[in-house]
Amino acid sequence: MWDPAVYQRFGSERSRPFVDLVRRVGAEAPRAVVDLGCGTGDLTRTLAGRWPGARVTGIDSSPEMIAAAGEGFELGDIAAWQPGPDTDVVVTNAALQWVPEHRELLPRWFAALPAGAWLAMQVPGNFDSPGHRVVRDLAPELNRADPVDDPETYARRLIAAGATVDAWETTYLHLLPFDGEHPVVRWMEGTALRPVRAALDDQEWRSFRAEFADRIATVHPVRDGVVTFPFRRIFVVAHKD
Ligand SMILES: C[S@@+](CC[C@H](N)C(=O)[O-])C[C@H]1O[C@@H](n2cnc3c(N)ncnc32)[C@H](O)[C@@H]1O
Repeated sequence: MWDPAVYQRFGSERSRPFVDLVRRVGAEAPRAVVDLGCGTGDLTRTLAGRWPGARVTGIDSSPEMIAAAGEGFELGDIAAWQPGPDTDVVVTNAALQWVPEHRELLPRWFAALPAGAWLAMQVPGNFDSPGHRVVRDLAPELNRADPVDDPETYARRLIAAGATVDAWETTYLHLLPFDGEHPVVRWMEGTALRPVRAALDDQEWRSFRAEFADRIATVHPVRDGVVTFPFRRIFVVAHKD
């Protein structure tokens, strides 16, 4: 279950990759724009601002997120989605890491898009980060293969499908103030820790969270009231000439 309020705790840090991604999309007057895994829809609405003539839709599989997003957003599974004949822009930000089959879906979507279309994705590339390693140490049942690829692998797959590709990675250095509770714990509660929370009762969760917080404080120490939290992200923008 996604909790919109918990996810939005670091809204400013989380929105920056979306802005950096969409800036590289060159569409001028797209007919339909789709945001896959749109969450609360706050970032989706900025797409309507950029392309006022477009029909902008956001799709998400979480009823809580769609309820927070309001009208015009649709409950749906990314894995079942297909582009329409007028889908000129597809954006998906921080969502495909939850969709294992996305590696096959990307070239399939690209093939189905109309000429001139853009497909833009961003996924976190932090599977080997200290925080994720702590999650896997404490909850080994969550061990799984890295859910995303490197930029080059995505680029190769889309070039093979006929795309002109722009692919890159950025490590943002988030500087998170410590306000009595470790900010990386608060950050990860909104995303990577959700499956752990869902598997535990309240008491088990409290003790897991306390142990997690101790371990996180050793890998992300607080200095001068601030935690430095490097966060690698992977970007791919594919254009159909
Ligand atoms: C980390 S949030 C990102 C939300 C938004 N794109 C943003 O950048 O703020 C990931 C979102 O992907 C959605 N999601 C995960 N798996 C999905 C799937 N198979 N189909 C649709 N949405 C999915 C979740 O419900 C969640 O809202």
